[in-house]
Amino acid sequence: MNEITIQSPFDMHIHLRDTEMLKLVAPLTSHTFAGGVIMPNLVPPVETKEAVVAYKNRILEAINNDDFIPFMTLFFKPYTNEFLENVKDEIIAIKLYPAGITTNSEGGISVIDTVALAPTLNAMSNLNIPLCVHGETNGFVMDREKEFMSVYEALAVAFPKLKIIMEHITTKEAVDLVKKYDNLFATITLQHLIITLDDVVGGMLKPHLFCKPIAKRPEDRDALLEIALSGNSKIMFGSDSAPHPKHKKEACGCAAGVFTSPIALQVLVELFEKNDKLENLDNFISKNAIDIYGLKKSKKSIKLIKKDFVVPAQYEGFGEVVVPMYAGETISWSLKE
Ligand code: DOR
Ligand code: ZN
Repeated sequence: MNEITIQSPFDMHIHLRDTEMLKLVAPLTSHTFAGGVIMPNLVPPVETKEAVVAYKNRILEAINNDDFIPFMTLFFKPYTNEFLENVKDEIIAIKLYPAGITTNSEGGISVIDTVALAPTLNAMSNLNIPLCVHGETNGFVMDREKEFMSVYEALAVAFPKLKIIMEHITTKEAVDLVKKYDNLFATITLQHLIITLDDVVGGMLKPHLFCKPIAKRPEDRDALLEIALSGNSKIMFGSDSAPHPKHKKEACGCAAGVFTSPIALQVLVELFEKNDKLENLDNFISKNAIDIYGLKKSKKSIKLIKKDFVVPAQYEGFGEVVVPMYAGETISWSLKE
């Protein structure tokens, strides 16, 4: 196959940031995707209706006239039923961060207790607002996700009607758990389908592949790849594309995040083609998200052509510089302009 058309591609987990960085990176997503779930970890976090609406408007301004729907989220904290009823039409989900676990999550939840959080989670369940979760403890870095599985189980059991999205899963334990409960779903990033910890720290240290959760073992990567390639209806693409200024990545104290927006679609086509599973790409990148979140399919379609593309060394604009995954390398599919 030399050409492919992707209908209604959705990125179900993305960081667009704010101000100058937003202006630089938002068009790189809105160009190739029909919509995306926008993460709320700004400074300060997005936690009022006014902040959601204002941020959405800044995104719409940054993407100019692109056909792209920003699906907005709120930063999880205890909210009243009244507040949630009032905000629900502006958001697609609420994102829970354990306190201090990753970029700008200091205002997150210190103890994820199903009793203490029940008023908010029951209200979300009744109003059909999904809960997106960054699932890591503050334990040893390679065990953080595995240790969080009991928290996911407790949430899934205590709130059986609440849709819970296990964000950016990276382990075979998470792949097993998502299949076990009807109300658990998951997103998987591009990098976690491809790299392992070896690619990050096994040779020369690669700051642009450092993210949270950190990439794990080959058997974890293989389990993620297998379930994504299978088109399993619980699994959605969520890039977790997380741009940081180049000077904050190439630094002593490297910020966590891999910037994949400009290459995600092309590399996914390459990956599904290489594994002879192109027929399941639509499930991973569009249909499952539509079914899980109850979205409308977009009329937007993106054409790609099998032609080498040299990934830019960096993207620059508005005084910002950001380095993408595969900077300077050649990938085998290009956008057909
Ligand atoms: O690597 C990451 N970067 N993981 C996250 O959970 C947050 C993200 C960011 O916002 O930079
Ligand atoms: Zn994220």
